[in-house]
Amino acid sequence: MRRAASRPGIHRVACVYRLDGRAILTAILMASERSMILVVGNTKGGVGKTTLAINLAIARALSGRDVLLVDGDEQGTAISFTELRTEQLGAAGYTAVALHGAALRTQTRQLAPKYSDVVIDVGGRDTGSLRAALTVADTLLIPVQPRSFDLWAIDNIAALVKEAREINERLRAIIILNAADAQGSDNDAAAESLGEADGLEYLPLPVGRRKAFPNAAALGRSVLEQSPRDQKAVQELAALTKAVFV
Ligand SMILES: Nc1ncnc2c1ncn2[C@@H]1O[C@H](COP(=O)(O)OP(=O)(O)O)[C@@H](O)[C@H]1O
Ligand SMILES: [Mg+2]
Repeated sequence: MRRAASRPGIHRVACVYRLDGRAILTAILMASERSMILVVGNTKGGVGKTTLAINLAIARALSGRDVLLVDGDEQGTAISFTELRTEQLGAAGYTAVALHGAALRTQTRQLAPKYSDVVIDVGGRDTGSLRAALTVADTLLIPVQPRSFDLWAIDNIAALVKEAREINERLRAIIILNAADAQGSDNDAAAESLGEADGLEYLPLPVGRRKAFPNAAALGRSVLEQSPRDQKAVQELAALTKAVFV
């Protein structure tokens, strides 16, 4: 883990310090900005939550951010992946912890200021961990596969988001298609029905069904670190990272 002094927010303060009082105030506000907490969640299993959580965490870590990956799923896939990654690469490049239930909320609150980004992977059910995560998150990313059973589960997560907003009113909730078909009308039909989801924002940045994701994960890597690179997977991940971490 890098020291706080090298974090980008702190660095910006040093750059504008010699300007006027307003610039200094702006800089202090920027430096004290909270870290961004992203939850990748859906009450549905097998939609690509863990896959996207690890790829997003690594994408941010590779761009120099100090990342905390929280595994909120009892199955512990994100932790197992991190262990494999550490074996394969010598170091994960981010910090990973397993937290569940109420501890996920309290510990994430405590740990978040020490990191620039926090990515939380939660299980595929309506669990205490998912609810706890939604109360501390800035953004919920909901991966959905363009198939009817997955689309029906959206009402479920929309209800949880609505409930979480009673405590956490600034929660941004975005849906994307994951493992989207290369062709066919399913994607368009899914996008149209997702566009109507209550209180959720549909982001038209689908991630395709690409072998690069499981292949890279099996080697403890993100699609960004795979060789040869799947350029489409890399581009889709880059576009998603940019849209999610604002
Ligand atoms: N975009 C994708 N393209 C191809 N396979 C994917 C993609 N996203 C996820 N998968 C695969 O789908 C399966 C379920 O993904 P996972 O991330 O474990 O889902 P969840 O965490 O929601 O249960 C895994 O085998 C994973 O490799
Ligand atoms: Mg998972």
